[in-house]
Amino acid sequence: MKLTIIGTGYVGLVTGACFAEMGTHVICVDVDEQKIEGLKRGVMPIYEPGLEPIVERNYKEGRLVFTSSLEDAVRETSIYFIAVGTPPGEDGSADLSHVLAVARGLGALIDRYSVIVDKSTVPVGTAEKVRDTVAEELKKRNVSVEFDVVSNPEFLKEGAAVEDFMRPDRIIIGTESERARKTMHDLYAPFTRSHERMLYMPVRAAEMTKYAANAMLATKISFINEIATLCDRMGVDVESVRVGIGSDSRIGYSFIYPGSGYGGSCFPKDVRALIKMAGDAGVKPKLLNAVQERNEDQKHILPQKIIRHFAQGLKGLTFALWGLSFKPGTDDMREAPSKVLLRALIEDGAKVRAFDPVAMETAKRELPAEWFDSGALELCEHQYDALDGADALVLVTEWKSFRFPEFERIKGLLKSPVIFDGRNQYDPATLKALGFTYFGIGRGQ
Ligand SMILES: NC(=O)c1ccc[n+]([C@@H]2O[C@H](COP(=O)([O-])OP(=O)(O)OC[C@H]3O[C@@H](n4cnc5c(N)ncnc54)[C@H](O)[C@@H]3O)[C@@H](O)[C@H]2O)c1
Repeated sequence: MKLTIIGTGYVGLVTGACFAEMGTHVICVDVDEQKIEGLKRGVMPIYEPGLEPIVERNYKEGRLVFTSSLEDAVRETSIYFIAVGTPPGEDGSADLSHVLAVARGLGALIDRYSVIVDKSTVPVGTAEKVRDTVAEELKKRNVSVEFDVVSNPEFLKEGAAVEDFMRPDRIIIGTESERARKTMHDLYAPFTRSHERMLYMPVRAAEMTKYAANAMLATKISFINEIATLCDRMGVDVESVRVGIGSDSRIGYSFIYPGSGYGGSCFPKDVRALIKMAGDAGVKPKLLNAVQERNEDQKHILPQKIIRHFAQGLKGLTFALWGLSFKPGTDDMREAPSKVLLRALIEDGAKVRAFDPVAMETAKRELPAEWFDSGALELCEHQYDALDGADALVLVTEWKSFRFPEFERIKGLLKSPVIFDGRNQYDPATLKALGFTYFGIGRGQ
């Protein structure tokens, strides 16, 4: 089989590479010519564990092709995955301009039965919009070409994207067309060898499933963060509570880790978009609003703890920051809690020496140039370099290399032995015994 992926970002590149790995011929299209040229030279545009060798191997073997010409791709394939970005618009709704631009492009080019797959996260009703847009373009050309639009939302996690794609919990296919269903079934067959993972449903249900899944996960995080805030006020360690409730199989342990709030390119924008969708449908989304509000507040909790501890003000102080990416395993800093923390510290006059195992290049691109120019922010080559002469260590992303650090070394490098742990990685009693002043999230302080 042959297919085209349009949009070669986190989702598009992983999808393309994984299909190619299973033997499918894949053409990856992107409007970003620099990205395409880089990929042809073997330069990965993103960090994703395990992805590079798959891309390299399949590119070399000719199963994975990169181009910026949709026209070239349409000549060779009749299955199109739309995997372009759907960033939040001004009013919180998902911006569909890239998706619809692709639909127009396809409508202007296709000349045989085609299956167009919405892989991007898109609001309920988007498949109909894509269908109408393609139909309009065909009408302009005065041609009649059959096509189906399918919703196939993606559930991969950055940091484990290849594994998630190769062994998905489920593959959601939203379509009312038997012909498109058969195409999707055949395409995904190599991923469902051990047991059936395909779930077929109406297209609008598939679109809603993606938002409902992300909103549920975001709700779990905001729930435990709210409990953590209560715990802080009431002298309770939330970590005991977390284990206490997680052991209930109806609740489970996943996604109830208290921390500095959720970030990334999905949860914040998808919760916002679902709120907008609810409003448009005449529903007041009370729970979703609360989930979002709690998360915004959560990102400020760690800086507030720091400001409270250094009551004389942050001017003249230096902080070592461990972690920049929104979560471990990725270089993605979209809506990362580290950004809120950095802004709070720097605007209060502090300097920050930061380290992240993979997100340093992203930080150089995405953080304000004046922070670097003024010396307010310095990126350090090694996690221990960041500590040199700092007044405290602040951990905001729970990379594995931060989990069991050399505490004596940390103590020796810091000016004062203070740790602000935004992900509850450390045990307060152990750190106290080692002579640290320790602040976590919801540890009853
Ligand atoms: N990142 C994730 O973890 C994740 C997981 C599941 C779903 N999603 C969803 O998948 C979609 C893509 O997300 P992403 O993180 O991969 O985005 P991304 O920003 O990393 O990549 C999008 C790519 O699309 C390209 N593009 C934009 N317009 C184009 C056009 N007209 N033609 C061709 N290429 C075009 C961009 O240049 C970019 O390379 C979003 O809707 C997102 O919500 C993302």
